[in-house]
Amino acid sequence: MLSKIIEKALNKQIRIEAESSQIYLAMACWAEVKGLEGVAAFMYKQSDEEREHMLKLVRFVNERGGHAQVSELKAPNVTFKSFKDMFEMLYEHETFVSESINELVHITLEQKDYATHNFLQWYVSEQIEEEAMARTILDKINLIGDDKGGLYLFDRDINQLTVSTAANISPE
Ligand code: FEO
Repeated sequence: MLSKIIEKALNKQIRIEAESSQIYLAMACWAEVKGLEGVAAFMYKQSDEEREHMLKLVRFVNERGGHAQVSELKAPNVTFKSFKDMFEMLYEHETFVSESINELVHITLEQKDYATHNFLQWYVSEQIEEEAMARTILDKINLIGDDKGGLYLFDRDINQLTVSTAANISPE
């Protein structure tokens, strides 16, 4: 059974994951209307993954005797100055999510809720991967700068890039 403190903290994270999904959906839309299909596909996938992160938490809360809250969400940014700007926002957002997960893990230890602590380890690993991926993308974007040809190739290769990043840092 979840304590009220843990339930509240998990519900806060549910909201953050839902907002993350919306943030990346807005990025997908912007990339799509700008004609970068690869970037758009990548962002749609990110958005889906964030929804999965949210659902995993929702089910955990409900199964452990709590009540997952579906709340109003903050509207995301829908336009961006540049692709670099957009990916910087993605990276910053992921570091914010990591901090939030760390805080949540801290609360579970304070509350001696080892079941939730154990459940959250998946999120800790996931955040390491997401931050590494965002950093890899940002490094590439910084190399490309304003070069249109570079951006074309980046758009073509972004999925490949992220798959190999994930493979490189997986612990197995
Ligand atoms: Fe669910 Fe990208 O953090």
